[in-house]
Amino acid sequence: MMAGLILESYEEGARIALTDAMEVMTRAFDPVYGEAWTLPQLAGVMTMPGTWLTIARIDAAPTGFALIRSVLDECELLLLAVAPLWRGRGIGQTLLSDSLRMARRKGITSMNLEVRASNNAINLYEKTGFEYVHRRPGYYRGNDGQLHDALSFRIDMRI
Ligand SMILES: CC(C)(COP(=O)(O)OP(=O)(O)OC[C@H]1O[C@@H](n2cnc3c(N)ncnc32)[C@H](O)[C@@H]1OP(=O)(O)O)[C@@H](O)C(=O)NCCC(=O)NCCS
Repeated sequence: MMAGLILESYEEGARIALTDAMEVMTRAFDPVYGEAWTLPQLAGVMTMPGTWLTIARIDAAPTGFALIRSVLDECELLLLAVAPLWRGRGIGQTLLSDSLRMARRKGITSMNLEVRASNNAINLYEKTGFEYVHRRPGYYRGNDGQLHDALSFRIDMRI
């Protein structure tokens, strides 16, 4: 893990965690794809039982986050983001590995995710052991109206 990196997980939406996640959110997602969530969307999902948000910090400043929702023994990685200036240093990988570790600790046996087919994050997911499940053609609509395929991935954590 990168020196100085601290991960903190929050359930049921501590306000500070939402603010910190939004600080990363506004910088991390390319507006062309319209993938960033709004604060009300984030606050809404954080009221759901089984949801948790992990913030990565360096010197207290938020540099990345992971948002996971679980139902019974399954969970979904809803968002994973690292602020552009902090990319390529293993923060995304650390957040993902920590999310899997937390999920296992909660008795969860699989994690699913959906990602735009052209997103570099796919390298990270495959490297971590996620397996391709299927493609949904034209599933996402960018702010420019262009449609993008979604790929879904899954990792079985019992293996
Ligand atoms: C995806 C994202 C979270 C990766 O964060 P990161 O901290 O840069 O990732 P890491 O440094 O831990 O990199 C881990 C692996 O991811 C892959 N990866 C990350 N960025 C990549 C890039 N630009 N191109 C290709 N592969 C990349 C590599 O396999 C890398 O491993 P390596 O360094 O051994 O080659 C970050 O790029 C991001 O926030 N993207 C925008 C938001 C987004 O689209 N999130 C995913 C969908 S919700």
